[in-house]
Amino acid sequence: MLGGVSQRLTEVTAFLAEILTPRAPLTVIVDGGDHGAAGHFAARLAAAFPPSARAWNVDAVLGLTGSSGGALDSALNVLEPAADRVIVYLRSGGRGPAGPGERRAQVVIDNHDPQWPVIRELHPRLADPDRWHLAESQAFFAPRAAGWDDKFGEDLPAYAKAVDAVAPEPGDVVLDIGCGTGRALPALAAAVGPAGRVIGLDCTRDMLTTARTKGRDRWATLVQADARHLPVADAAAEVVFAAGLVHHLPDPAAGLAELARVTRAGGRLALFHPTGRAALAARHGRTLTADEPLNEANLEPLLTSAGWALSVYEDDDDRFLAVAVRVS
Ligand SMILES: C[S@@+](CC[C@H](N)C(=O)[O-])C[C@H]1O[C@@H](n2cnc3c(N)ncnc32)[C@H](O)[C@@H]1O
Repeated sequence: MLGGVSQRLTEVTAFLAEILTPRAPLTVIVDGGDHGAAGHFAARLAAAFPPSARAWNVDAVLGLTGSSGGALDSALNVLEPAADRVIVYLRSGGRGPAGPGERRAQVVIDNHDPQWPVIRELHPRLADPDRWHLAESQAFFAPRAAGWDDKFGEDLPAYAKAVDAVAPEPGDVVLDIGCGTGRALPALAAAVGPAGRVIGLDCTRDMLTTARTKGRDRWATLVQADARHLPVADAAAEVVFAAGLVHHLPDPAAGLAELARVTRAGGRLALFHPTGRAALAARHGRTLTADEPLNEANLEPLLTSAGWALSVYEDDDDRFLAVAVRVS
């Protein structure tokens, strides 16, 4: 905290002001959040705009529709007349399943802790994901790393079962991408044996630190890396395991293509989660929508265009598993 103002809030609002300023004149609407959160965030965002693009009129439009319609909570105009409109949605635990407010937003911010807002989605027309994805993912996952396994369970048997589905063989090179605290690593290491090699990669240093604290570096080499630009040679791996990763990537198609690049022809990919999609969405207070990348109707063509052939698709309450084979 700096002078009572969260440094994270300052970072997020400064970044948004930086990418929105060139779009002025525009109206920014801050929607969602618990009571008062949208107004507070809008005021901080307004203050972050440079004098040349002075944000004004924040208070005048606060409570635009308010609680009555549950639609738009606060807005600030940046110069006048506003030709463009950007909706910033604050996700919080207070309002039940995400409704149309979140779906129509161009910026989605996890605001469960208003002192620690994290950008979770940002429309690519506003900024290239390279400008925000890594820093914001790290900001999201780092505070969760130490308690990750306590909160979600070690679940090692579920991970071992998912590893079986891609059948790594003794001597194989296996990558666990977005490995987090390394819940899959013991099973992957057991499958490839001493002649094989397991590498766990994750962009969040604190996740890898927790993996080491749990002794999981015994099973794998741990590397801090971006799944979208892997420090791995082409066709280096027989098996790629990615649990809970793909829906966190800003461009899942590009992410799947990068996983394909590092996998040899005939190699296998497991996309896994120890909870099914519907149960996971409910846990996050969301309802599933048809456009999600892990929906089978979307995933199959995404995989195909990235160089994979989908061979298994399961989406039960207690697990999500898609297995794909690298096409030569
Ligand atoms: C939902 S967690 C899953 C962790 C672990 N696979 C598990 O199943 O427990 C997602 C992980 O992906 C990582 N991640 C998100 N974006 C990433 C990226 N671009 N590159 C590498 N890791 C990323 C996060 O740091 C986090 O550890």
